[in-house]
Amino acid sequence: MERADLAQLIADQCEALDITYADIGELPARLYEMEEALIPHGLHIFGQNPSGAAREDMLDAMMDAGSLDGPTPDRAVLAAKLDSSDELGALIHALDGGFVQPAPGGDVVVNPQVLPTGRNIHGFDPFLMPSAYACRLGSEQAQQLIARHVNGGEPFPESIAMVLWGTDNMKSEGVQIAQAMTLMGARPRRDSYGRLCGAELIPLTELGRPRIDVVMTLSGIFRDLLPMQTRMLAEAALLAAQADETVEANFVRKHTLVHQAKHGCEFETAALRVFSNAEGAYGANVNQMIDGGVWADPDELANAFEINKGFAYGVSGKPVQQRDMLQSALGTVDFTYQNLESVELGINDVDQYVDGLGGVTRSVSRAKGVETPVYILDATRGSTKVRTLGEQIDLETRTRTLNPKWFEGLLEHGYEGVRQIEGHVTSTLGWSATTGQVAPWVYQKISETFVLDEAMRRRLSDLNPKSAGRVASRLLEACDRHLWEPDEATLAALREANDELEDRLEGVFPAE
Ligand code: BEZ
Ligand code: MG
Repeated sequence: MERADLAQLIADQCEALDITYADIGELPARLYEMEEALIPHGLHIFGQNPSGAAREDMLDAMMDAGSLDGPTPDRAVLAAKLDSSDELGALIHALDGGFVQPAPGGDVVVNPQVLPTGRNIHGFDPFLMPSAYACRLGSEQAQQLIARHVNGGEPFPESIAMVLWGTDNMKSEGVQIAQAMTLMGARPRRDSYGRLCGAELIPLTELGRPRIDVVMTLSGIFRDLLPMQTRMLAEAALLAAQADETVEANFVRKHTLVHQAKHGCEFETAALRVFSNAEGAYGANVNQMIDGGVWADPDELANAFEINKGFAYGVSGKPVQQRDMLQSALGTVDFTYQNLESVELGINDVDQYVDGLGGVTRSVSRAKGVETPVYILDATRGSTKVRTLGEQIDLETRTRTLNPKWFEGLLEHGYEGVRQIEGHVTSTLGWSATTGQVAPWVYQKISETFVLDEAMRRRLSDLNPKSAGRVASRLLEACDRHLWEPDEATLAALREANDELEDRLEGVFPAE
């Protein structure tokens, strides 16, 4: 076939799959990325070790991850460790007052030391976080993040809003903490025993670029688990703000002076950059509002975020309600971002990504009056890839939500599988509401796969009539909110399917 014919064939196939490209040369890497994506196979059942194809897939993934940073691991050894897990036995032993061996926690694909499971997992040594290894990796990743933004044609960022999670830092020895430190041009200060005791600045001559302002919003879990690191981050921001440097070379100082003049507050107050919930409180409540459908204007989502996350943690470690300062700090932000640290959790698998990253993005967009770029730094496979949120949604929709391997694995778990599909649809709407970065084809294909396909619709409704109904009504909600504008035929079919699902729920169609 002629080259032009082939190009047309490829273009037609891509159009059918809603894959857009500027240059055909981009396609191999994009397709390879999708092909290579790891997808969790259903849910873990306590006490049940992986078997059959799932066991082989898991070993494959562990072999791949293991060979990235050293000699290829021994498959038989990995398999023996995997098979020797005795979670139920260990639980009973613990309940009997017996001793359960300690073991590291984390992602089994990346760290085989986690095996066998069913041991008493310990997280980390708080005095060693971030570790030297994490500082090196975090510094490289911070550079990759800046490069992605700048290579996209944007000016060098003055300010970044970053979401920090506790478990991700535990899994990575504090890589995300190290990223934040590097961006500000700071590093951990350690005592003569090598234990963490605070922050210190990297001299500008060594840093070789301006200090970037970082507005950090911590999950409640981070705040609880990592009080020393919380204070270290606050100290880094304060030291940067106080440094006797020009505002062209130090954006933390530049913005602090602006905030101070605006609010007429103490310098130290204007240098607050670490925000989280009030003590004892968790989450931004943005996910709950989206789940309940109880918002009229996206500004209400920004309000929820700021009300819940508007507590500043300064160098004393004691939180102070500072919503105005959070708003001012977010008003300088060029882009928002968060890491993905584990293959287990994609951006739609739990609703806390929309809650924290979506929430902060909505607040930044409101403060600035323009939509905010969002990046995801994917560190789940050993190497790092920075994607825009739009690219991440594209990838995960194709490799998870719409991928039979993902949903069939979950549907083996019955009603819970349908609930997980519903969760993806709700998160998708959440990303639209908070960031506006969901392409129409995502809603179209979700509708076709889970609602408009009669056999699938029946199947979901038999397994979990409530969730199946909510999948359809959520898609209609997206239409009502003008987050997605399908063609008339799709809309009519969705409405009809939704009516049928409601009738089935009300028992008009008794279970077959
Ligand atoms: C955390 O580790 O901080 C976290 C994990 C899951 C959801 C929200 C926060
Ligand atoms: Mg990792």
